[in-house]
Amino acid sequence: MKTFHVRVNGILRQIVADPSRVLLDVLREDLRLTGAKQSCDRKGQCGACTVLVNGEAVKSCLKKIGDLNGAEVTTIEGLGSPENPHLIQEAFVLAGAVQCGYCTPGMIMAAKALLDRNPDPSEEEIKKALSRNLCRCTGYRKIIAAVHLAARFLRREIHPRDVRPDLSRGLIGVSMPRPTAYLRACGTAQFTADIHVDGAFELAVVRNPHHHASIESIDIGPALNMAGVEGVMTAKDIKGTNRIKYLVDDQPLLCEQMAHVLGAPVAIVAARTRKEALAAAAAVSVAYKPLPAVRTPEEALAGGAPEVHEGQPNLCSSLSQVKGDMETAWKQSAAVVETDFSTQMIHQAPLEPEACVAFVDGEGEDTELVVIGRGINIHHHVMVLQESLGIENIRYEEAFSGGQFGIKLDITSEALAGAAALHFRKPVRYVPSLTESMWMTTKRHPMSCRMKLGADQEGRITGLEVDFTLENGAYTSWGTAIVLRMLQMLSGCYHIPHVKAMGRLVYTNNAWGGAARGAGPPQMNFALESAVDLLSRKIGQDPVEFRLRNSLAPGQSISTGQVVEEWPFPGCLEAALPHFQKARSEAAAHREGRIRRGVGLAGGSFGIGKAGPGDKSSVAVELDPDGGLTVYGSVADPGEGNDAMLTQLAAHAMGLPPEKIRLVTRDTGRTPDSSSASGSRSTYMSGGALLLAIENLKKAMEEAGGSTFEDLVKADMPTRYLGTKVQQTTPLDPVSGQGVPYESRVHGVQMAEVEVDTETGRVEILKITAVVDPGTVINPRIVEGQIEGGLDMGAGMALREEYIHGETRDWVTFRFPTIRNSFETEIVLLQTPRKKGPLGAVGVGEFVLLPTAAAIMNAIEDATGARIRHLPATPEKVLAALREMKPEP
Ligand code: FES
Ligand code: FES
Repeated sequence: MKTFHVRVNGILRQIVADPSRVLLDVLREDLRLTGAKQSCDRKGQCGACTVLVNGEAVKSCLKKIGDLNGAEVTTIEGLGSPENPHLIQEAFVLAGAVQCGYCTPGMIMAAKALLDRNPDPSEEEIKKALSRNLCRCTGYRKIIAAVHLAARFLRREIHPRDVRPDLSRGLIGVSMPRPTAYLRACGTAQFTADIHVDGAFELAVVRNPHHHASIESIDIGPALNMAGVEGVMTAKDIKGTNRIKYLVDDQPLLCEQMAHVLGAPVAIVAARTRKEALAAAAAVSVAYKPLPAVRTPEEALAGGAPEVHEGQPNLCSSLSQVKGDMETAWKQSAAVVETDFSTQMIHQAPLEPEACVAFVDGEGEDTELVVIGRGINIHHHVMVLQESLGIENIRYEEAFSGGQFGIKLDITSEALAGAAALHFRKPVRYVPSLTESMWMTTKRHPMSCRMKLGADQEGRITGLEVDFTLENGAYTSWGTAIVLRMLQMLSGCYHIPHVKAMGRLVYTNNAWGGAARGAGPPQMNFALESAVDLLSRKIGQDPVEFRLRNSLAPGQSISTGQVVEEWPFPGCLEAALPHFQKARSEAAAHREGRIRRGVGLAGGSFGIGKAGPGDKSSVAVELDPDGGLTVYGSVADPGEGNDAMLTQLAAHAMGLPPEKIRLVTRDTGRTPDSSSASGSRSTYMSGGALLLAIENLKKAMEEAGGSTFEDLVKADMPTRYLGTKVQQTTPLDPVSGQGVPYESRVHGVQMAEVEVDTETGRVEILKITAVVDPGTVINPRIVEGQIEGGLDMGAGMALREEYIHGETRDWVTFRFPTIRNSFETEIVLLQTPRKKGPLGAVGVGEFVLLPTAAAIMNAIEDATGARIRHLPATPEKVLAALREMKPEP
């Protein structure tokens, strides 16, 4: 231990610490300055921990306190506060650069260092300065814009009031900053790992190191006597089912006799510090017997393959769909494309680790287990935990959430932390490493398919036949629902009279699939939009014209037989056409030589809501004594902007200023069940439920003959009203796959402009133009932010990202997109109000991912003639495809 004198945010601090401790830990643990985050296990990969040391941006996870005696440190808290933000913080908020906000403090500090030395940086200089700061939500475009805006503020060219939206003339269609944006930009928003719990024990988890193994014995003895250890628990200490069950009972909370996947949790250690817990976890001795593992669906379905779950076939389920008849389709076809496609396993990659805090509150019958995490379906999470842990009284409180992209539709660390809090009867904190966070979460299911698509002489699509397999991984999570969603949206944007499909879900000893932004349709739409392009080429039709000719129209049915009433897709194509023609003519000058330019286009249509029938959301409103309105709903906002959506809708419907709307959205003890923030359903379902609740309040006001809190009280009427929205949908028939899956949809078209280096195979995205029709736009900047972030993720799926269980361990091995990969975007928003959407709105967050990969692959073919059918299109695959095309010498 030594004493160091460091000036932190202008205050001289006398810090007594081991010199080898890193600044990040001293700031967060000793000084409780939690604005600086960590995402990469202190490996210097994420930049979330960036602070200023003597005016320079440094990664505080890499700086030892022993080297900082006499230094001047500035953290995000030293810049400004939500009440009095720094101009850079203000610029980030006003530019819409803050989504989940987990990366934001680090980004802002890196921007501060840049702007201090360069008051007018170019885009290239901004990219260079922020190149080591990762963001998963924004696609970086609004971050670049925010730095430019901050520079203008600091140069006093404009004042923030010049760009603040005018909220006095209505709130719909206005880019109001999200209500929590300043908290996130100023580092005061508390994410789970930021929550300090007095006397809490830190947890570490013993994890299975084999892809498949039986557990012969567990010896916790050596760990029990180690320094700081409170105890060790195993599956036998869990009072409930010890299962995490969504659809199928196949995922143990802690392994019993079998470990089905590498990283599966075997035992939990509680200790005074994380370091002590990790040391004790390493001392728990587990005797494993490694078993043969199946790592691909092909291996799993081969005769004599080992079973992933003993006594259960590796083919866990299959679903089919039939509309019309294929014989007729192929007879009518003048051209047919038949080929294979595949997509890879992808980690959703939120920056925040899967942290959880849990404690037991009360005694006797009043005992309640409280878990704090970042779930997006908290009432359902409580149900799952009740069964798993064997306790009825559970409250889920959501902390601020650092992105999720579907991952948190499943419980991750909550069950482990909850089990430990119950067993040890102590408050606990579990902050897993990045690798563990990857091990304990679902992934995007890899898909392989064989697809056949035909068209007649006039270029009308005659039929579509698809045989596809999804790799389930070791557990089912929502797997069956993902296959279902692929069938529900199978025919994409098009009128296809004859359809036949078979989808299979197959267990392997790999990471398991679950909800991942779009959850199924992005994989299938990649195949469909690639095949549509191939077919249009084969019959010699322009790809836009071909898509326009084949677009579904109101009165026609999708592959499930549902006849649609609204279908604004052709308008999206028409809006994209001038962009397509311009890009094509620009690319024409770059058709020869080493670097070739191409333009590709793809469409998408995405059903809003949960996969099952009767999707339902409840939201309550309460008139406050001061005339304000409190909105109660379990509507998570991991960065999508749901807080702003609820505020703007409520303020609009009540005629109130936004500051009079108070949100209570993150606590099962206080909110009705609004179900999940998934399926792009929050605006449509929970926004809809909110408007219904306000309608009920207004009816009561009418009855009471007055509109104030006092009027309702005087009339002896309640001040709180519930609204419940239910979708009028039906299940799909298990054999024919026919039914009514969604009331409404979001549509769009994306156009990618790429350059392909024919010598290295490297693909550079120059620009993506996205035309989206999400109905009425409540907050344009938030919608744009969702689209830009989705495009970035779609580009990652297309070109780069792949999760390989056991090999992918951090952000470098995952190939996380950096600001250097960011590309120009142009967004065209069309607004065809949807009949059943709140004020005509639907959601947009997941749809964005549907067309991107196909648009990029179509552009690569346009540039080079090479078709990539198996994602990601790495330079090696592009080169191989180019080689295949070259005639033999
Ligand atoms: S925590 Fe420092 S760079 Fe990731
Ligand atoms: S806003 Fe950057 S990670 Fe979420």
